Amino acid sequence: MSEGRESSEGGGSHIAFDSAEKVFSLFTAASCYVLWVGDDGRLIHVGSAPVGSMGEARRLGMRGISAYTDTMQGWDRQEDREEFSVLGDTSYHDVAMAAQFPEPGGPLVPGEVFSGSVRDVRLRYVSHRIAEDEEPGLAPGHGLNTRVRQPRQTLIIHLRDTLYDFSVELFYRLTPEQDIFERWVEIRNDTSHTVQLTRLAFACLHLPRSATALVSLTGGAGREFQRTRYELAQGTLLFEHCGLNTGHAHNPVFCAHRPGQADEEHGDVFFGALAFSGNWSLRFETLPNGTTRVLGGYELLDFGMSLAPGQSHRTPAMLFGWSSEGIGGASRKMHRYLRERILPDTGDRPVLYNSWEATGFDVREDHQLELARRAASMGVELFCVDDGWFGGRAHSAAGLGDWSPRASAFPGGLKAFAEKIRALGMRFGLWVEPEMVNPDSDLYRAHPDWVLHYPGRPRTEARNQLVLDFGRPEVIEHLLRCLSNLVAEFGVDFLKWDMNRYATEAGSVAGQSVGYSHARGLYRIMDELRRRHPGLEIQTCSGGGGRVDPGIFARCDQAWISDNTDAHERVGIQEGYTLAYPARTMECWVTAEKNPLTQRISDLALRFDVAMRGALGIGARLDELTAGEIAGFRQQIAFYKRIRSVVQNGDLFRLDEVGRASASVWLFVSANRAQAVFSSIILATPHGQLRGPFRLCGLDASLSYRVTNCRNEEVGCFPGWQLMAFGLPDDHLTAGACRSVRSRTLLLEGLNPDDPP
Ligand code: GLA
Repeated sequence: MSEGRESSEGGGSHIAFDSAEKVFSLFTAASCYVLWVGDDGRLIHVGSAPVGSMGEARRLGMRGISAYTDTMQGWDRQEDREEFSVLGDTSYHDVAMAAQFPEPGGPLVPGEVFSGSVRDVRLRYVSHRIAEDEEPGLAPGHGLNTRVRQPRQTLIIHLRDTLYDFSVELFYRLTPEQDIFERWVEIRNDTSHTVQLTRLAFACLHLPRSATALVSLTGGAGREFQRTRYELAQGTLLFEHCGLNTGHAHNPVFCAHRPGQADEEHGDVFFGALAFSGNWSLRFETLPNGTTRVLGGYELLDFGMSLAPGQSHRTPAMLFGWSSEGIGGASRKMHRYLRERILPDTGDRPVLYNSWEATGFDVREDHQLELARRAASMGVELFCVDDGWFGGRAHSAAGLGDWSPRASAFPGGLKAFAEKIRALGMRFGLWVEPEMVNPDSDLYRAHPDWVLHYPGRPRTEARNQLVLDFGRPEVIEHLLRCLSNLVAEFGVDFLKWDMNRYATEAGSVAGQSVGYSHARGLYRIMDELRRRHPGLEIQTCSGGGGRVDPGIFARCDQAWISDNTDAHERVGIQEGYTLAYPARTMECWVTAEKNPLTQRISDLALRFDVAMRGALGIGARLDELTAGEIAGFRQQIAFYKRIRSVVQNGDLFRLDEVGRASASVWLFVSANRAQAVFSSIILATPHGQLRGPFRLCGLDASLSYRVTNCRNEEVGCFPGWQLMAFGLPDDHLTAGACRSVRSRTLLLEGLNPDDPP
């Protein structure tokens, strides 16, 4: 350590402050992030980069900082790369925070004649500290163990306004193993007046130079998670969602790289995500000098937050990091980070049965039991009764809000039914949609004021429902009581937590903070439920995949990612989902041969091959299947149980994607590379064209792999190097286009070198 350098090492990360140069250097295993306290006390971003094997050189520190930073200051300071840009000084571009001092009522500086508000913040460095296990960042709210729990280091930098007693702390938490940085901020008002925040991001990032190729996820209900490319150019690209969930149209994740210099498996990629399930925005502003700032945080549309004297606010986190193995490498880092640091460590996800596509609202105890018996006989491990089991819910226009069993659906009682499910060897799950009410419900009749609304103005219904105001503590406490009683009384092991409309006319007692207070209330109910019932698991759902983001996985085990269960269309939805989210969280059902949504017919093998890429579920009308079909389901479920540990915990390599071609080829590889799962879905091969084979990635070149199919038949045994050089010898893929769709899933098991061939 050189003189004037203070440094802290912990769990593989390294945070150093050079007091002579006034430089902070943050290192994870393979990347660095450097910032600088400018001469006027402003905090300036120097850069971030993948440093790979240069990691050890970090002890040398950074030298000659002024040569880097001099060039960063534009004539009007607009292009300064501030770590947390604010409306004030000379700014007129987009900023991470805008604040108004004070509320009408008086000046902050005694004696000054003043009217209106001061909309000028100047943040300057005061001090810093390094803490261990600083929260929240993206903190697991479920209260259960995560796979990796080593302490992590957080750098906290305190900035204060030059005049007012108003400060911002910037947090940088490092997860060294996956090169993930988390940033969030805490705003503190120690003035004697209320300060109004009109814009607030969790972080301001600066994209690496020339990283103008952007990948994100867009879509809609039934076609979620479409991988979408953008070319950043001067101006602002804005993604925003204000419906009180994460939304279907955009998902708050991105990857950025230099055009033509990165692909699925190669090149440096900068990636990031917002860990928040309320109203959010992600802005990419490219300035005239060609640099791009990323501002990620609360929405722009209708955001406002009041901070009373003495009050503070901590935002959720924004994650980011570097991959030197292309977009695939970025996905694997996000997957590992979520699996090991965020999701509860509850073992492999069970095979689930869900009744929605089979029965709709027509939930009848005898029929559900018949489905359950068949499901159990196939190897299903968790039986979830979907919408229609409660209140007056015989259709979509009644009952939401009344979370007690519908007597006409369960004449023998839901408790006795749940016991029968358990007697069949399965766990028991229920669908709920706690944030909603139908006007035709006992809850709404008793508390019409509990929904979001503006007094005297219309309350627009969507799917016949209104949204509860989570700004009201009494609403949160009521729901906690109902849901906790429900879980305790019926021994519920699993909740499918749905949200089937976006909020509109969001009049709340929380005012313009409704986008934040709704998510905070949701998190509080989920976290408290899990604390009271440690065995309970939760699946996030919002009209399909409308509430998926890193923040929800701090309290949910898995996600329902789309109501579209057509195997053809689902391939791309699932592929996009894995840009950021791990396969174990991706619930995928095998449903009817003729898909109810698209009317397309898909054979059983294709439906299973697609669904086995995530957490397998069944949603078909099992009582209408032939004995032969039941045997087919049983065989595939047994095969899934052989491969699921690799699918759910392994590293995913996307060898070909439907976005690029009409084939999607994946390989999951276990951490020790002794097992792998190959999954190929060929949706079309133009006549006369030869396709594949695909070189496999991530295997152990020195092992031989025995390859078996879903019937446990050996397909062959091949050296790892050969599979990595030439792929799986594969007549299936190269045959002429006799059928339009071909798919298969194979298990590869590395043989001990001493085993007989
Ligand atoms: C949403 C969900 C479906 C189902 C229905 C029930 O659309 O995505 O899976 O639960 O609600 O109403």
